[in-house]
Amino acid sequence: RLVVIHEAWVHGIILAAGQINNVYNVYKEDNGAPIPDYTVSRTVGKWGPLLLEDMTLIQHIAHFDRERIPERVVHALGSGAFGFFEVTHDITRFCKAAVFKPGTKTPVAVRFSTVTHERGGPDVGRNPRGFAIKFYTSDGIWDLCGNNTPIFFLRDPMLFPAMVHSQRGRNPRTNRPDPNMPWDFITHRHEMLFQIMRVYSELGTPDGFRHMDGFGSHTFIMVNARNQPVYCKFHLLTDQGVRNLTAETAKRLAGENPNYSSEDLFEAIEGGDFPSWSMFIQVMTFAQADRFEYSVFDLTKVWPLDRYPLLPVGRMVLNRNPQNFYHEIEQLAFCPSNLVPGIQASRDPMLQARMFSYKDTQRYRLGPNFMQIPVNRPLETPYNLQRDGPMNMFNQGANVNYYPNSYSSLRTDPYSDAITYNITGVVGRHDTKDEDNYTQAREWYLSLSDYDKLALAKNVGADLKGCTSAIKKRVFSAFNLVHPTLAGNILMYTPPE
Ligand code: HEM
Repeated sequence: RLVVIHEAWVHGIILAAGQINNVYNVYKEDNGAPIPDYTVSRTVGKWGPLLLEDMTLIQHIAHFDRERIPERVVHALGSGAFGFFEVTHDITRFCKAAVFKPGTKTPVAVRFSTVTHERGGPDVGRNPRGFAIKFYTSDGIWDLCGNNTPIFFLRDPMLFPAMVHSQRGRNPRTNRPDPNMPWDFITHRHEMLFQIMRVYSELGTPDGFRHMDGFGSHTFIMVNARNQPVYCKFHLLTDQGVRNLTAETAKRLAGENPNYSSEDLFEAIEGGDFPSWSMFIQVMTFAQADRFEYSVFDLTKVWPLDRYPLLPVGRMVLNRNPQNFYHEIEQLAFCPSNLVPGIQASRDPMLQARMFSYKDTQRYRLGPNFMQIPVNRPLETPYNLQRDGPMNMFNQGANVNYYPNSYSSLRTDPYSDAITYNITGVVGRHDTKDEDNYTQAREWYLSLSDYDKLALAKNVGADLKGCTSAIKKRVFSAFNLVHPTLAGNILMYTPPE
């Protein structure tokens, strides 16, 4: 029922406008008056001059002049679809969130993306993939905005903007990709190595968006109905099976069919072959976290699956393509701060910084009332104290705009608040650069097949083409700390200068 209501809601206004047009069968100006002609301008004589009074022409061009909004500062290139998430296993002993109540089916919007590619670039290139899910739950919107990797490059958000500058790879002077920039940064920050190894394996070139897993990556806190917390991580494993492209195929497709991944997703859904993912969680008690060999707030680390096994939760199915890409996908705004009762943020500094960054960028990218755009609205109309601002479509009528007050029956809901906990510590800049950066990367490398080990070395080696010999040396010595065979093979596959 919620899926149907939500679809009607997202499309409601558009369908209504479409119906009106069908009745009269005439294009209309934005004031509703008929458009006399869409192919010929009004001029004095055949060759002009043009007349300023031709408002059809003026409106047409003026609106066109304003068609572009800023692309996302990262993850600009992507595509998405709609569907539902249904609970298959009861996890209410861990979590009271409405989305996990047995029998619940929740509408979702999902956007897949590449991280550093610009909007309009090829969507098959080597990159991590974004995997962002918006759950329209009966308790509000929950955004699980993750990647196709269970870890991330960094553990301190201070480094994020510089990391993105270096990995986007455009030299500020030449505006051309500069092969030295990414590797220069990586070799200064060895916490990046594990994630870089995943991205330079064939996992970095998934065969479209349907054949990859998704991860919430961060440690979150789940709270049950008795307000008892546990730490948890989210995994979405593809029911289509993981399938990757070789570097050669990805490169060829980037030229032949730069929209390969979005085409694959769209056409599968259009043809009724609905992709699905199974959701699992890993759970750790606070006491276990105290004994864990790493900080559970270190986003560059995984929780070993043998000790923290995957517990099944539910299934996500994508069964509807957008009717209008810009309206429903480009204007989607995922915010890690969109949480619901029962799911709350942990202390992970990366997550805390993201909770600020996304709504901040969306106020700039889409405007301060971006939450009123149909795809971003919660199922139930929110009443609060936010008013006015550009493009306000819903200003809460005559409701009182201050609190406390003597007029409204609206109240706050302490039950929905995050749990309380104690933290003590020394205020300061605690450098985490030299946390263990190699053990998990090495274990993962050793778990690869011989083919995958060589593919990884080959892909790194090939990427060093054009780097200075000083940067190459830094790369070999960094990977040598992970495993000498890996460093040796990278050296072997690096093209001669
Ligand atoms: C998009 C910032 C780390 C996954 C974005 C955007 C910003 C941003 C500003 C653009 C949002 C928009 O315009 O709507 C940051 C910062 C980070 C960080 C400051 C670290 C401090 C991460 C991590 C993940 C991630 C760790 C995954 C675990 C994504 C995804 C998108 C995105 C999937 C695209 C969402 C969409 O499809 O619209 N990020 N990010 N980011 N980020 Fe991050």
